[in-house]
Amino acid sequence: MKLLGTFALLSSLLTTALAVSFIVPGAVWTDTSGAKIQAHGGHVIKVGSTFYWLGHSTTAGVRPNIYTSTDLMNWSHFGIASNAVSAMYRPKFVSSGGKWYIWGQINREVVTLVAPGSTPLSTAYTVTGSPQLIPPSARSFSDMGVFVDDNGSNYLLTSADSNNLQVNNINAGNPITVGSRVADIGASIEGPGMFKSNGGVYYLVVSQKTGYRADPNKVYWATSLTGSWQGGTDIAPDSVNTYNSQNSAELVIKGSSATAYIFLGDAWDANGTDASNYEWLPITVSDSAHTLTLQNLAMWTVNPNTGVVTSNGFANSTFHAADAIVGGSAVVTKRAVHNINSSSNVTFTNIVGRGEKQWISFEYTVSNVTAGEAHVSVNGGAPVKLSELNSRAGHYSTVPVALMLEKGTNTLTFGTSSTDGEDFAAHLESIRVFDKY
Ligand SMILES: *[C@@H]1O[C@H](CO)[C@@H](O)[C@H](O)[C@H]1NC(C)=O
Ligand SMILES: *[C@@H]1O[C@H](CO)[C@@H](O)[C@H](O)[C@H]1NC(C)=O
Ligand SMILES: *[C@@H]1O[C@H](CO)[C@@H](O)[C@H](O)[C@H]1NC(C)=O
Ligand SMILES: *[C@@H]1O[C@H](CO)[C@@H](O)[C@H](O)[C@H]1NC(C)=O
Ligand SMILES: *[C@@H]1O[C@H](CO)[C@@H](O)[C@H](O)[C@H]1NC(C)=O
Ligand SMILES: *[C@@H]1O[C@H](CO)[C@@H](O)[C@H](O)[C@H]1NC(C)=O
Ligand SMILES: *[C@@H]1O[C@H](CO)[C@@H](O)[C@H](O)[C@H]1NC(C)=O
Repeated sequence: MKLLGTFALLSSLLTTALAVSFIVPGAVWTDTSGAKIQAHGGHVIKVGSTFYWLGHSTTAGVRPNIYTSTDLMNWSHFGIASNAVSAMYRPKFVSSGGKWYIWGQINREVVTLVAPGSTPLSTAYTVTGSPQLIPPSARSFSDMGVFVDDNGSNYLLTSADSNNLQVNNINAGNPITVGSRVADIGASIEGPGMFKSNGGVYYLVVSQKTGYRADPNKVYWATSLTGSWQGGTDIAPDSVNTYNSQNSAELVIKGSSATAYIFLGDAWDANGTDASNYEWLPITVSDSAHTLTLQNLAMWTVNPNTGVVTSNGFANSTFHAADAIVGGSAVVTKRAVHNINSSSNVTFTNIVGRGEKQWISFEYTVSNVTAGEAHVSVNGGAPVKLSELNSRAGHYSTVPVALMLEKGTNTLTFGTSSTDGEDFAAHLESIRVFDKY
């Protein structure tokens, strides 16, 4: 009985939902019930003062899944939009003629769902019309996105016709249908999202064709949707592969004192499953250079009313591995601790906790991502694999995780284990501890 009681307490501690204080790119995000948010390949729209996040959930049969929020941080799960379809990837909302539709791709065709009422919030969307290929050549396509211009016209963005990225009209009517081609960007790219800057420039953000592997995403621009489209420049340094993500969509928040342009990326795991996360970052727009640059922020917030992005001033501490207690044969240099294999570890002491979950970001690389795992032990407890806390562990040099710390001072030990006795070592630079979740 005692044991059961302890389990109940532990699990309630672990699942108690906490208000979310930051957008933490690349971390596992939870909804207001404490469950992981599953809205991959999706987009976010704003209606009134509410944000609606639509994406697909693979564990729910790859069906469209809806969340709502007023601050882009605390997300309530509304529900699966339709049980009438499955294997529907990259769903997007389209509003037309007073009706709400969901467009998603099934077998590389556009399938249309319609809501029964006049709001996007429904779990009873039904299939309408027939699956559609992309005109004029009736091609299959991949990676659909949707763009709504200032005058309310809707456009389909997709990669079709021998994998050329293109912009197509969406014809009004009930149901909406895929219309004629507006522009053909001509490049073999996918994952399109588009927005128009306050300066009147259209920006089309795309990823390259690398499956679920992250790649350097690019931007094309034009002053009219029909083109000419130019660019193909990077939105982040090549080497970081868009901070380990791929474009899904863009969100613009026109606030009372600023406009926030936001990159909504998917941080896919190897197979695009529900273990995948999200990489959302503010974009710096230069209408004179026609470039976009992602701001590489560990934690940030945006005020939905003013549009102001805040990215500093949060209580945080960086602990350098080189200053920590190093056990075993690991090698300490000025900047980092190298060769942390299964016979060594790094222990950080005096980490101040609040008696609840808080974000801690591990900055490390590994010698071979399939040959082993890094793990962390809190206050001498059982080591937890970082890959169980975040699927990007080992794949990218910044791994934010939420850990439960005790109120007062805590000790964290970073170690590794190898699989199959292969050579494996981690190189740990630092950990960053934020005082909130
Ligand atoms: C998140 O939602 C909770 C509950 O509605 C609220 O108390 C909290 O202020 C919200 N967090 C932020 C950062 O707005
Ligand atoms: C919006 O503007 C585009 C480009 O000028 C035009 O083709 C389209 O018909 C307009 N839509 C509406 C609803 O006026
Ligand atoms: C991805 O799928 C492949 C093939 O089904 C499987 O071998 C591999 O373990 C999967 N990887 C992950 C991270 O789930
Ligand atoms: C982290 O803390 C430092 C020093 O207190 C502060 O200057 C910095 O803005 C904080 N960083 C973030 C992301 O809040
Ligand atoms: C850290 O490594 C040292 C040396 O291998 C070992 O004695 C110690 O028990 C380890 N500590 C933890 C917390 O794993
Ligand atoms: C860890 O690295 C040290 C130094 O290179 C080496 O002597 C030791 O055998 C390694 N341990 C394991 C388990 O591979
Ligand atoms: C990485 O580790 C795997 C074992 O998981 C091994 O098969 C592979 O050869 C290693 N790669 C390199 C470059 O050492």
